[in-house]
Amino acid sequence: MVHLSKGDFVWVESSDGVPIGAEVKLTDTGQLQLIDDEGKEHKINKKTEGTIKPMHPTSVKGVDDMIRLGDLNEAGLLRNLLVRHKEGHIYTYTGSILVAVNPYQLLPIYTTDYVHMYTDRRLGELPPHVFAIADSCFFNMRRNRKNQCCVISGESGAGKTESTKLMLQFLAAVSGQHSWIEQQILEANPILEAFGNAKTIRNDNSSRFGKYIDINFTPGGAIEGARVEQYLLEKSRVCRQAPEERNYHIFYYMLMGMQAEQKKILSLGSAAEYNYLTMGNCTSCEGRDDVTEYAHFRSALKILMFTENDSWEISKLLAAILHLGNVKFEGTIVNNLEACKVNKSSHFNMVCQLLEVAPKQLENSLTQRFFTTARDSVTKSLTSAQAVDGRDAFVKAIYGRLFIWVVDKINAAIYKKAEGSDEVQQSIGLLDIFGFENFKKNSFEQLCINYANEQLQQFFVKHVFKLEQEEYTRENIVWKHIDYQDNQHTLDVLANKPMNMLSLIDEESNFPKGTDTTMLHKMNQVHGKGGIYIPPKNNYETEFGIKHFAGEVYYDSKGFLEKNRDTLSTDLIELVKTSTNKLLKQAFQNQLTTGTVKSINPRMVITTSSSLRQTSDAKKQVPTLTGQFRKSLESLMKTLTVCQPYFIRCIKPNDFKKPMLFDRELCMRQLRYSGMMETIRIRKAGYPVRYTFDEFLGRYRVLLKTSLCDPKKESKEKCCESICKTVLAKGEDWKTGKTKIFLKDSHDTMLEVERMKELNVKALIIQKVLKGYKHRRQFLRQKAAALVIQKYWRGHKGRKLYRTVQHGYARLQAQVRSRQLHFHYQKKRHAALVLQTELRGYLARKEWKRKRNAVILLQAQTRGVLARKALKKMKRDMYLSAKQKEEERQANLERQKKLEEVLRQKKEDEDKAKTESITDQEMVDSIFDFLPPIMVGGQEGQAPVGFENLEGRRIIEEIDIDDLPMEEELPKEDDDDLDEYSFSKFASMYFQGAASPSHIRQRLRTAPALP
Ligand SMILES: Nc1ncnc2c1ncn2[C@@H]1O[C@H](COP(=O)(O)OP(=O)(O)OP(=O)(O)O)[C@@H](O)[C@H]1O
Ligand SMILES: [Mg+2]
Repeated sequence: MVHLSKGDFVWVESSDGVPIGAEVKLTDTGQLQLIDDEGKEHKINKKTEGTIKPMHPTSVKGVDDMIRLGDLNEAGLLRNLLVRHKEGHIYTYTGSILVAVNPYQLLPIYTTDYVHMYTDRRLGELPPHVFAIADSCFFNMRRNRKNQCCVISGESGAGKTESTKLMLQFLAAVSGQHSWIEQQILEANPILEAFGNAKTIRNDNSSRFGKYIDINFTPGGAIEGARVEQYLLEKSRVCRQAPEERNYHIFYYMLMGMQAEQKKILSLGSAAEYNYLTMGNCTSCEGRDDVTEYAHFRSALKILMFTENDSWEISKLLAAILHLGNVKFEGTIVNNLEACKVNKSSHFNMVCQLLEVAPKQLENSLTQRFFTTARDSVTKSLTSAQAVDGRDAFVKAIYGRLFIWVVDKINAAIYKKAEGSDEVQQSIGLLDIFGFENFKKNSFEQLCINYANEQLQQFFVKHVFKLEQEEYTRENIVWKHIDYQDNQHTLDVLANKPMNMLSLIDEESNFPKGTDTTMLHKMNQVHGKGGIYIPPKNNYETEFGIKHFAGEVYYDSKGFLEKNRDTLSTDLIELVKTSTNKLLKQAFQNQLTTGTVKSINPRMVITTSSSLRQTSDAKKQVPTLTGQFRKSLESLMKTLTVCQPYFIRCIKPNDFKKPMLFDRELCMRQLRYSGMMETIRIRKAGYPVRYTFDEFLGRYRVLLKTSLCDPKKESKEKCCESICKTVLAKGEDWKTGKTKIFLKDSHDTMLEVERMKELNVKALIIQKVLKGYKHRRQFLRQKAAALVIQKYWRGHKGRKLYRTVQHGYARLQAQVRSRQLHFHYQKKRHAALVLQTELRGYLARKEWKRKRNAVILLQAQTRGVLARKALKKMKRDMYLSAKQKEEERQANLERQKKLEEVLRQKKEDEDKAKTESITDQEMVDSIFDFLPPIMVGGQEGQAPVGFENLEGRRIIEEIDIDDLPMEEELPKEDDDDLDEYSFSKFASMYFQGAASPSHIRQRLRTAPALP
């Protein structure tokens, strides 16, 4: 009994048989009750108490990796997905297997930031993501130099195609080239989806074919090319669709998006006008814009090198298919036999025009069958129902071959074979293939699909379990064996054993009289007791069952052989031969070249050999659908087995394409199909990661502590063990075999993380040293350069300074010298001046002397002349004037007397006037008192210039001019009788007594001054 308290999580029984998680809560009344994950209440009573089980803490909130779940059962897995889905975590790991739950909404987790985040990270380092798987593929491809593959499986609508696209986008991003080829590879998808995808009730964009994209990389990790392999296109969809389903997208794209003129040429209308497009009563798809999709499709065609003519030819064939679907047959009776004829309509004419065949020939090949027997050739009329079947078979054949032609054309554009044969191309393959199918009514297609899934399951089991188990034994690893569901037995019954089911179907298909009933009968006989094949309950039932790994599936055997034959009548093959439509002929090239011997009309080829009997004449073998499918699957398996595989299991959470809705029952079924439980158990118990000692040491040598284990002395095995002991925690479960070391997924991650850390440390040291070296070298170079610069700079500066100083000194010197020179010059000048002065003085004096001498000479001469003249005159005068002198003396005496008289008179007057006023004489005297006393005649005044008496100085000593006296005593003038000119005389003569001292030039008239 479990003790419960509020907030506990427990497991309770649920109606679907798988325990559901529930939380213990208190009711309003204070009682404990359980609320399960779906919100349902469960009462706790004695009846239920026994079924309640405690929940492991890891299941409460969910874990990233389901291997870590404590409750390792279906309920635990389911709840883990549910809890994570509720929180918006759509990805969960199971070891290295990714479980992806379709979110049915756009999540912001595919941005370039996420691409960067998940690039170059180890699986498990970050939360689970499809990018982490893609990165792991890329990393392992480069690390191990081994091709990788990723098998993406799940139900229709679970998200396989989306995951494939996301992987592709991530690989294109990390390849990092942004090249044309990457663009081409990405753009191949819209074309493939246009031809191979359709709206179904389960998925609006359901891939109706399987595909394997092999992406090739250069050794440097850049995308180099890719190759697309297609598997088993659902051709029946071209002619028939279930309710609410559509035909292939391309038809609707074309009718909506094509230009009106082109549509007119092809005589196309709207989708509602064509029988092949209206079977499901659904011509539009919500959330899908056919017009824009057509534009995208057209641009993708261009990118993938489809010419305009190619796309026009494709449109022609597609239009022909649509018109063929509208061709009607009218039943008639010919020779009492049921026959039919074609209802002539514009559609029929259009078909002839588009397929470029003669109308009559087309009509014949649609309404008649031509037989050749050993002896004869017969023509048989077909009933209208048979004609419709024949027409549909023709349409399916055209579409199926057109699809293959398109895939081939895409491959021609994106696939580039490695040029050097020895160069191994690295590749990552992505397999987006239909998941296990189990409908109410299952047919031949479901058998093929489920067979493919059995193969993949076997591959999966082999990879994760069988091969491992064998290897453990080989390597002497002690390991507890796990019981797992090996589907090998189912596969044997289906395809491996002699007389296996598929061979029987093939055998019956090739057998002229074979029917679905004979086939069923044979299968009952051969496999009825094996336990895998479940025979019909009675002879009338047509349904048989097979116990697949994912459950029992019942198939309706009706139509098996017809579908397997996948045949086209020779009439129609012949018709194609007559056609001039190039694309039609190219698409049917295989059929046309194999000739009639390889005609695929089973009724015409009578072969005694069959796959059952291991034929030796393979040429006569009819290529049936299963035959082709098995062949391509086998080649796929071969490719996958040489790759390191990854698995993505897509889960569809509900049938309504709704976000945040988790249908437990649906998910449980898918988990069971995917064999997830076994996977977890195997993964948990096994050691999925293994390396040879060499490989391990080569990769993780950096983690080896040489102090603990010296690689020079110890064996490689010891070194590997030492690394594991130091890096992996104690108690971790890893093993060493004979040649290999065996690890769990988590160990690989731990080792990788540690290796990265250690490499980072080492890289840092190397970087440090290198940077140190580089910078030191640079520093030394710079230092040396700086020294040179300094040297030159200092030199330059020194020289400049020196020049300045030198210039200064020169200036100083110049100054000093100039001063000296100036001084000397001044001195010299002065001296020169003195000299000059002296000289000039001397010269001047000399000149003056010369001149004076000359003057003196002149004077002397002149004076001599004058003296002689005066002497002469005196002599003459003396002689002449003795008498005159006497007379004059007499006259003078008389005048003297008179004058004396006058003077006496005057004196009397003056005396008389003295009383009254001073006499004139007195007045004159007083006025001219300042004058020197009157000299005797000839003594007043100077001699005129040049007439000085120089005679006495004839001999003059040479003396300085300056020393000469300024005045020279002039020789006395001749003592002429100049008394009369004495001033008193003059004054008395010209001035009157009463006159004023003022000078009057006019003679006084009034009265004579003198009586
Ligand atoms: N990761 C995702 N994020 C958002 N939506 C998604 C995601 N995966 C799937 N879907 C949605 O689910 C739809 C169906 O997905 P998808 O076509 O990949 O399914 P499928 O498994 O390829 O189905 P089928 O087998 O029919 O081809 C998509 O159209 C898309 O709307
Ligand atoms: Mg798909």
